Amino acid sequence: MDAKSDTASDVRFPGKGLSEIPYDLYTDEALYKQELKRIYRGPVWNYLCLACEIPEPGDYRTTFVGETPVIVTRDRNGDIHAMENRCAHRGALVCLKKRGNEKLLTCVYHSWTYKLDGSLHGVAFERGVGGQGGLAPGFDKSAHGLRRLRITVFCGLIFGTYSEATPDFETYVGPEIASHMRSILGKPLRYLGRNVQVLPNNWKIYNENLRDSYHASLLHTFFNTFKLNRLSQDGGIVIGAGGGNHISYGKSKTGYDHPDYQADGIHSLKDMQLQDPTLLDTVDESGEGMTTRILSVFPSLGLQCHYNSIAIRQVLPKGVSETELVWSHVGYADDDPAMQARRLKQSNLVGPAGYISMEDGCIGGFVQKAIQGVTGEVGIVPMGGEGVESSKARATEVSIRGFWQAYRAAMDM
Ligand code: FES
Ligand SMILES: [Fe+2]
Repeated sequence: MDAKSDTASDVRFPGKGLSEIPYDLYTDEALYKQELKRIYRGPVWNYLCLACEIPEPGDYRTTFVGETPVIVTRDRNGDIHAMENRCAHRGALVCLKKRGNEKLLTCVYHSWTYKLDGSLHGVAFERGVGGQGGLAPGFDKSAHGLRRLRITVFCGLIFGTYSEATPDFETYVGPEIASHMRSILGKPLRYLGRNVQVLPNNWKIYNENLRDSYHASLLHTFFNTFKLNRLSQDGGIVIGAGGGNHISYGKSKTGYDHPDYQADGIHSLKDMQLQDPTLLDTVDESGEGMTTRILSVFPSLGLQCHYNSIAIRQVLPKGVSETELVWSHVGYADDDPAMQARRLKQSNLVGPAGYISMEDGCIGGFVQKAIQGVTGEVGIVPMGGEGVESSKARATEVSIRGFWQAYRAAMDM
């Protein structure tokens, strides 16, 4: 696509740097439409769903790329396909449910049917009725399937792209991020369930929040009150290929009583204890004492591993000032009942009402409300300098600058 052909928005960054972020980026309708084309239909890997959500032949799951409805299927041979959920006849949704199992996908409007790979199978009254009407003899059914996306499956996660230019997934995220994904998801997965929440803010504000290691022990008082995550713990940030992919990690039981927290007077409720400490009864699966890992893949995936709770977060834009966040909770297929119960209990940490994630559901809305009517002003991300490089420190906004680096490249801004 010619990136210059749809330049309706006049939002611009003030310079080449990545530390000054115009507020108009979160409110401009024309820019939002450009993003849907240039980013979501551009050379990116969009997270679609988990392979373990469609384990059987005939299983399907509906999802979105940007705002475009998409179906992901598993065919009779076990192969996975992704296609737009839009009938090739008059454009109706083909699959109306979130998930199901079908031999053929049938559009309710005029009963056209599609195979599980999206090709057109049957047309009602193809030869007309009583010898009259019907399709013209030259109608080529093979040219009227559902529009297909190119897919890749990495560590049980299915991604789709519209672009032939999107590189293979490991090149796209970089070897270090791929390696961290393997460390978290490198075994067959079991789908445990999902939460969906609507965020009252632009999709990029949530993407920034996901990459904002600086806020965790400040906004999320649960972390700090119960001595769970502090920036003084051993940890770090790795920035992946292109800047838009990252992981931030922290290791438990190190550096908790750092004087900088006392000096800044931050939430030092030292005597608070969890009434039920089994919530954090944790098995060290990483072997390295990792307790907090947040990973992102530009533009739509978050992957988190807090203690033994593992969840995939899908970030879906729903207009310039609304975002849907889909949490899929997983375990490993070989988990014993005790581990599955542990993961489910610890899933209370995350999701819309999670002990350590509930504030993220409103903080983006606080930003979105505060920037209404503001034009030509910028927010700043100066923590940790101006660059985009991996860092031992987590009191930094380096991953947010990485997001904007990827964004500017994708948007040609
Ligand atoms: S719109 Fe789907 S069959 Fe007509
Ligand atoms: Fe957060």
